[in-house]
Amino acid sequence: MGLARKIYYFLPPTLRFWLRRLVYLPHDIWSGFTKKYPYPVPPKGLIYTGGGDFVAQGQKIIDIVQALDGDYLQADSRVLDIGSGIGRFALPLTQVLGPNGYYQGFDVVKMGVDWCQKHVSPTYPQFHFDYIPLKNDLYRSAGKEAATFRFPYESDTFDLAVSNSVFTHMPPAEVENYIKELARVLASGGACYATFFILNNEVEQLLKTNTRFNFPYDYGHYRLMDKKVVGANVAYRENYLQELVQQYGLEIKHTFYGHWSGRPENECKDFQDILIISKP
Ligand SMILES: C[S@@+](CC[C@H](N)C(=O)[O-])C[C@H]1O[C@@H](n2cnc3c(N)ncnc32)[C@H](O)[C@@H]1O
Repeated sequence: MGLARKIYYFLPPTLRFWLRRLVYLPHDIWSGFTKKYPYPVPPKGLIYTGGGDFVAQGQKIIDIVQALDGDYLQADSRVLDIGSGIGRFALPLTQVLGPNGYYQGFDVVKMGVDWCQKHVSPTYPQFHFDYIPLKNDLYRSAGKEAATFRFPYESDTFDLAVSNSVFTHMPPAEVENYIKELARVLASGGACYATFFILNNEVEQLLKTNTRFNFPYDYGHYRLMDKKVVGANVAYRENYLQELVQQYGLEIKHTFYGHWSGRPENECKDFQDILIISKP
């Protein structure tokens, strides 16, 4: 793990927030005068959910889902965003979901949920954001246990669920509970777009020479990037994930491997691995 990443994980979440705010302040003041999108986009200093092109990454999720065979995303779909962050997926989705659609996001970081409630819901009232104070050692130090959390939504409701870069920050007991909840709240025929870091034989070989992004702490069915901050990044063995989804009556319909482990970038859809998990 690089020194910069190590220092970043070492900082408490509040300090990380203010540091980011400060570093991006000049950029944010400048871009305040140059609005480019048909929907609001948070200033860079508030985007606590990772680097890269925020708008392009959100749009990419939509493009991948719409290219699947299956009508998972239509103007009137019911969509659940597990770990909705500061709206990366919700914002471009405002251009797809019509007034008869329904979007429900939830997250453990109040700032991101507040921003979305303030900037998205008034213009797009079919978009709802819930703040749920669960514990996650990368994003907030206190809160209730995600491993026993019941999603506050009706069973058999959602046509599409998205969990982008969220299971990559959760230990096994939490992922197991979320897959169980996902199986409950998805409608029959619905699907989930979920990203992971997936370990298999090919990846184990690639990781032997990957010094940039690795998971040195091996616990059998999962590996950690940082022993002290479990939520920093978690990778799961492929057979463990396959058995987990089957256990709750779900199916992996597609696997799109990412380039995080060292696969050629031009052969991958994204950095993280993407699973399309369906409910028959
Ligand atoms: C890398 S960010 C990705 C956010 C968003 N999905 C996106 O693509 O921008 C990870 C998100 O997971 C959220 N998170 C962490 N633990 C969670 C949990 N147990 N339930 C829901 N969200 C959680 C964090 O607060 C953070 O917003």
